[in-house]
Amino acid sequence: NGNYTVTFIEGDGIGPEISRSVKEIFSAAKVPIEWETVDVTPILKDGKTAIPDAAIQSVKKNYVALKGPLATPIGKGHVSLNLTLRRTFNLFANVRPCRSVPGYKTPYDNVDTVLIRENTEGEYSGIEHEVVDGVVQSIKLITRKASERVLRFGFQYAESIGKQHVRVVHKATIMKMSDGLFVSTARDVAKDFPQIEFDTELLDNTCLKMVTDPKVYQPMVLVMPNLYGDIVSDMCAGLIGGLGLTPSANIGDECSIFEAVHGSAPDIAGKDLANPTALLLSSMMMLQHMGLGAHADKITKAIMDTLAEGKSITGDLGGNATNSQYAQAIIAKL
Ligand code: IPM
Ligand code: MN
Repeated sequence: NGNYTVTFIEGDGIGPEISRSVKEIFSAAKVPIEWETVDVTPILKDGKTAIPDAAIQSVKKNYVALKGPLATPIGKGHVSLNLTLRRTFNLFANVRPCRSVPGYKTPYDNVDTVLIRENTEGEYSGIEHEVVDGVVQSIKLITRKASERVLRFGFQYAESIGKQHVRVVHKATIMKMSDGLFVSTARDVAKDFPQIEFDTELLDNTCLKMVTDPKVYQPMVLVMPNLYGDIVSDMCAGLIGGLGLTPSANIGDECSIFEAVHGSAPDIAGKDLANPTALLLSSMMMLQHMGLGAHADKITKAIMDTLAEGKSITGDLGGNATNSQYAQAIIAKL
């Protein structure tokens, strides 16, 4: 029937209500997508947190999923469901663009940078043990294979969005072996992309410069190991107004999951107060990825115009519209 089917993981807390807004906006814009909503309430498989089979099959069949926030249980015996999803589908590159939103004033204007985070290893490898009482080790695992994969993706992505510069962010002065391997792999991969400028920068310096003059990073795609990417992407989000405004894409060879990075906000769940923009912008990345860029452009314009106008924005942005009123304002512009 000419339609695409996409898996929808609505998520916890505010997940279902912001998901509803995405669905309403997509049908108003006549995007040729049918949603397959799946439940990812984790099961135990061989004593480990796992995604239910039906959800796995759905994502594998559809290649693409959109995901709302999932609560992460803190403490021993639990593995983050977000990480379990990334691992289950081997989503090795996490793309996090960060662009100023028109009309939403922060001390920084014209932020426009793209961060790509290695998404499968580093400090997130989950290898931890107690050596003796009072002495523990958390292993930062770096492999050439995973580094090369995300770096190659980084150069290709830079090319695809018309940026001519890839910068690798690291701390190889201290993490001599792990970050050293990441950086030397980057130098090798860079040889295959002579048309793209390549350099490296120390992580602390990147943070300093980013909050001093983010425009420096406008022509670039930044690529970095997992934990650095986690931290720096939140810092960048802070420059433009927070996680309510930043999208994210987890890319793998077999499938990709597009997600809002913010939490499930249980305190405001069910009250129609949430801001669906991050999930909406993630769904725009999804449309681009699927080759539905014309739909993405049209909806993105309606979102940005609504934000710029400022009449129908949610409380987190200083407005007094509900989630639904904001979505209706976007629909009215389509
Ligand atoms: C993110 C989140 C996750 C991470 C958490 C929820 C496990 O902070 O996507 O940035 O640390 O990667
Ligand atoms: Mn994070």
